[in-house]
Amino acid sequence: MKKKIFTRKAAALLVAGALGAGVAGLDLASLGARAAIMLTNTVTGQPLELSEAPEEGRDTKAVKTFLETGVNIYNENLACLPKAHELFLSMCSGCHGHYAEGKIGPGLNDSYWTYPKNETDQGLFETIFGGAQGQMGPMYGALNMNEMLLVMAWVRHLYKDDPKGAVWLTDEQRSQFKPFDASAKHIEPAEELPEACGGPAG
Ligand code: HEC
Repeated sequence: MKKKIFTRKAAALLVAGALGAGVAGLDLASLGARAAIMLTNTVTGQPLELSEAPEEGRDTKAVKTFLETGVNIYNENLACLPKAHELFLSMCSGCHGHYAEGKIGPGLNDSYWTYPKNETDQGLFETIFGGAQGQMGPMYGALNMNEMLLVMAWVRHLYKDDPKGAVWLTDEQRSQFKPFDASAKHIEPAEELPEACGGPAG
């Protein structure tokens, strides 16, 4: 009898331990309310439902960093820009133009924004995730969050105005940034998702 109770208690402890480890492991992967920054819809101001994003691409280093700080570590990351370019061509250029010069949707390559918050990476993510008006639908059904950060990095790379206005860059990045010139040699698109850009080990 005594032995039985002991066993049950031990089993309960084991289960509690396993659960604890599981919860800690999930943490940011389970998302939603856990983002340290408050993300809101660009038009309605309602909180974004991050749980609507695909499971894939939630727990990459870039997504975790972004949800904690609002910083996109893919900005000017040369290893990641080819994939970022490819995602932009397949998901955005049809409406925003090949080099984000504007088409059905507005240009995304200059310092003018319909929604001024888009000059921050937090604002840009919110607009891409949750959409804006009319044809600018929410993207969480088509892109995972890691891919959104990649697309954002390409949009930023396409910026053609004075680097002083590139407030999303670090001071060091800004001092080296060259406004995009479509007629000059530039980074070509690539299908491959390198590990460091949210691939299997990213
Ligand atoms: C079906 C067409 C369409 C697609 C596809 C599309 N957009 Fe848009 N986008 C628009 C339209 C139209 C607007 C203007 C909406 C508004 O003013 O509320 C817009 C607005 C925006 C804005 C706000 C610009 C500003 O000046 O504040 C951003 C940022 C943006 N789109 C990014 C993207 C990105 C990145 C993608 C690809 C992941 C994308 N869009 C895909 C049509 C589209």
